[in-house]
Amino acid sequence: MRFSYALDGDGGIELSPWETQMADSMTEVIVANREHLARFLSWPSPTYGREDALAFIRQAQRQHADEGSLALGIWERGALVGGISMNRTVWRQRSTALGYWLAASAQGRGIMTRAVRAVVDELLGPRGFERIVIAAQPENRASRAVAERVGFRWEGVARHAYRHGDRFIDWAIYAMLAEDWRASTR
Ligand SMILES: CC(C)(COP(=O)(O)OP(=O)(O)OC[C@H]1O[C@@H](n2cnc3c(N)ncnc32)[C@H](O)[C@@H]1OP(=O)(O)O)[C@@H](O)C(=O)NCCC(=O)NCCS
Repeated sequence: MRFSYALDGDGGIELSPWETQMADSMTEVIVANREHLARFLSWPSPTYGREDALAFIRQAQRQHADEGSLALGIWERGALVGGISMNRTVWRQRSTALGYWLAASAQGRGIMTRAVRAVVDELLGPRGFERIVIAAQPENRASRAVAERVGFRWEGVARHAYRHGDRFIDWAIYAMLAEDWRASTR
């Protein structure tokens, strides 16, 4: 099933699956925001270019076709402003983690909070997932605030869980279970 979602609120925000013709927009936004993104993400490398965007999109399409994984661009009135994807999915455990990013200029307006809520509603609702994780570097206050605002619960710190360049860094782990989500929607 394809997932395309218009966020409520100030209108004009849409989540839609990556398509190869979006590679130029993706490259442009990521290159323009590289320093902002590379603070907490390892993939926006100094040489990031169209081939990297295309490889990501093709992999997202394959994973969507094979197993229904979600990897979505976030668009504001037709302009790409971010992305949100399922990562490290273990289908047998009905468990996944969300990765996300926004262009610097799209921050501060609740776009990611609403995007995460929409994806969580889809995964813990119709798609029958049991557990969704958000893992952020402890000093990534903005990402941790997204998890907390949506109602994810803090579980602790996984030490040296992520390789960022030549360093291993810790992850603050937040999770929402299907039962937490049901309780919050009652
Ligand atoms: C992490 C990241 C997506 C968070 O972006 P963000 O803009 O802070 O998050 P949101 O879009 O949910 O916006 C929240 C802000 O909008 C405000 N806001 C305005 N309207 C809002 C609404 N309707 N709902 C929620 N928040 C709203 C909030 O108060 C908050 O502002 P504050 O930061 O001044 O407290 C962004 O900082 C980013 O891309 N960072 C680099 C990549 C990264 O770290 N990715 C995550 C790796 S784990």
